[in-house]
Amino acid sequence: MTSSEISAERSTTEQMPRYYAQRAREYEQVFDRPHRQADITTLKRWLGEQFRARHVLEVATGTGFWLPAATADALSWQGTDINAEVLEVAKTKSLDFDKVSFRLADAYALDLVPAGHASPFDAAFAGLWFSHVPMQRRADWLAQLHGQLAPGALVVLMDNRFVAGDSTPIARVDAEGNGYQVRSLSDGSQHEVMKNFPTLEQMQALLAPQAQDIEWQELDYFWTLKYRLR
Ligand SMILES: C[S@@+](CC[C@H](N)C(=O)[O-])C[C@H]1O[C@@H](n2cnc3c(N)ncnc32)[C@H](O)[C@@H]1O
Repeated sequence: MTSSEISAERSTTEQMPRYYAQRAREYEQVFDRPHRQADITTLKRWLGEQFRARHVLEVATGTGFWLPAATADALSWQGTDINAEVLEVAKTKSLDFDKVSFRLADAYALDLVPAGHASPFDAAFAGLWFSHVPMQRRADWLAQLHGQLAPGALVVLMDNRFVAGDSTPIARVDAEGNGYQVRSLSDGSQHEVMKNFPTLEQMQALLAPQAQDIEWQELDYFWTLKYRLR
């Protein structure tokens, strides 16, 4: 491993959070790509239908791009992220702040997030987050998320598909099979970011003991996964 090839652990706990803090003000440019607009419109509509009458825990909220649509019919929404810089952008969105709130939280320490309106939450959402969970932490991360939710709760994950010629290429793969992309920001800085692309088969194997009614959807550039806890 060269000095620039850091471990999955350091990438997850240090480098990736710092990259997204630095990217906060330019993050949503990624949603401007013309060829992705049809998928984004579909996703906003779909997300708006998922959380009706739910008390939702959201992991890695970021700038809240999906929230005007996703929160519309929810009863309460607790957005969380490790970075204050991105939540500052989320707070500028047109949202019903009687039911939507944000707090700083590490996605790997969700037990520290109190359920505000409901205890425990009866739904969870994570957009464009699961791809940043190292392969070897996937099962633990899912178990930890499920531990914050009521029996029968709804879980919705949504993320990027890898599309050759469109997605940022995977520059290297580590010993555990995690992929890394090299990304640039407008200040010229370059960042190595872990990014994995799970398959339905991998998700089914991970979720089999804990989930029911698993629904997987593939759009051109995104996938969604929806299930209920047993
Ligand atoms: C790709 S962005 C996704 C943002 C948003 N969910 C979306 O769909 O646009 C990933 C987010 O994960 C956050 N993040 C990185 N490490 C985290 C951690 N350990 N715990 C919580 N959030 C984290 C970053 O700050 C960033 O906002």
